[in-house]
Amino acid sequence: MLLDDKIVKIREDFSYLDEQKLGRKIIYLDNAATSQKPNCVIDAVSDYYKYQNANPHRGAHYLTVKATEAYENARSSIAKFINAKSSDEIIFTRNTTESLNLIAYSYALENLKKDDEILITILEHHSNFTTWHYVAEKTGAKLKIVYLDDNFSVDMTDFENKLTSKTKLVSVTGASNVTSCMPDIEKIVELSHKNGAIVVVDGAQLAPHKKVDMQKINCDFFAISGHKMLSPMGIGILYGKKDILDNMKPFMYGGEMIEYVYEDYSTFTLSPTRFEAGTMNVGGAIGLAKAIEYMEAIGMDNIYERERQLSEYAVSQLNKIPYIDIYYPQNAKNVGSAIAFNVKEIHPHDVASILDNFNIAVRSGHHCAMPLHKYLKINASCRASISFYNTKQEIDEFLTHLEDVRRTLGYGLE
Ligand SMILES: Cc1ncc(COP(=O)(O)O)c(C=O)c1O
Repeated sequence: MLLDDKIVKIREDFSYLDEQKLGRKIIYLDNAATSQKPNCVIDAVSDYYKYQNANPHRGAHYLTVKATEAYENARSSIAKFINAKSSDEIIFTRNTTESLNLIAYSYALENLKKDDEILITILEHHSNFTTWHYVAEKTGAKLKIVYLDDNFSVDMTDFENKLTSKTKLVSVTGASNVTSCMPDIEKIVELSHKNGAIVVVDGAQLAPHKKVDMQKINCDFFAISGHKMLSPMGIGILYGKKDILDNMKPFMYGGEMIEYVYEDYSTFTLSPTRFEAGTMNVGGAIGLAKAIEYMEAIGMDNIYERERQLSEYAVSQLNKIPYIDIYYPQNAKNVGSAIAFNVKEIHPHDVASILDNFNIAVRSGHHCAMPLHKYLKINASCRASISFYNTKQEIDEFLTHLEDVRRTLGYGLE
């Protein structure tokens, strides 16, 4: 593994691994819900509030200039990280959910009409589902859903069959938070654009794990949550193509996004400030920029490779256990590191509680993907989601204690 020799050093950057301070050991396998934060990110946020705190873009004094510089530098770092054409295409939001809502309110409600079609996949997180329910209800557009092949991945034939001249908006996950499938988004964009549809990518589970390139993917919008990629909570990104953004109405109204305000009407700035009404989360933006610097120092390809090797190992071991059902693409070219599974006959919450007794943190429930669970004919699942800072020993402990789950509840191991 590329990072094996460096991992001890990397783990020193994460305070949650300090058992003494934390009061217990934690094997954190809930990284898809939110990642842990390295100390350099926490320090960058803290330093901002200690030495640079002021309201950016407002005023002429030393601190406000410093805060503005830090905030705009963060925007430029993010633009570079995802290879946007310009930092004007980077809008700070709270999270992926807000980014998707921004598109729904400012683009979709204005541009979609009755009988237009919105195409999503059954993999989508609720934030990329309910948003389009709302748009469909308000505009009269029809929501169509693409299903999966027998390897828990998007069925591209179904996609091509459902993409028609009526499809005006396609919104797909870049990586499923349940099955880890990474759809071929470049192909989806190419086919959708040929049909005249714009494409939204929910990048919440993709950007933290794999290099993304907006100019290569060529999607129209891309949403990111900072907290899933080593950053503070409450900071997210919406990438959008500049020509589309500048023709969209604001999402929220208030200070900083205006050009002129008269007694009876107002005019607005262009992107990105058009979509950043009110005082923004400057500390969060600085934390996100620091997280990106940290990930780039490790190397996004190294991160992907390590997570892939750890998850391949975990999946190969889980595949051997007769009482485990696993919902993960086998032998996929590109795949994430969240592994959803069930222990036969045992409720996922029981599995998670018993594992917690052994200091192992996994998620249980529907992971905000109820339609997908229904489609898979299960109510819920457990999910072990792996990050580059996890180790093979941690995966082994997790696998060992899965046996304890059955034992604790009086089941055998067959
Ligand atoms: C694929 C996916 N999309 C969207 C979201 C929503 O992210 P947030 O809660 O940060 O808005 C999540 C969160 O788990 C996710 O996994």
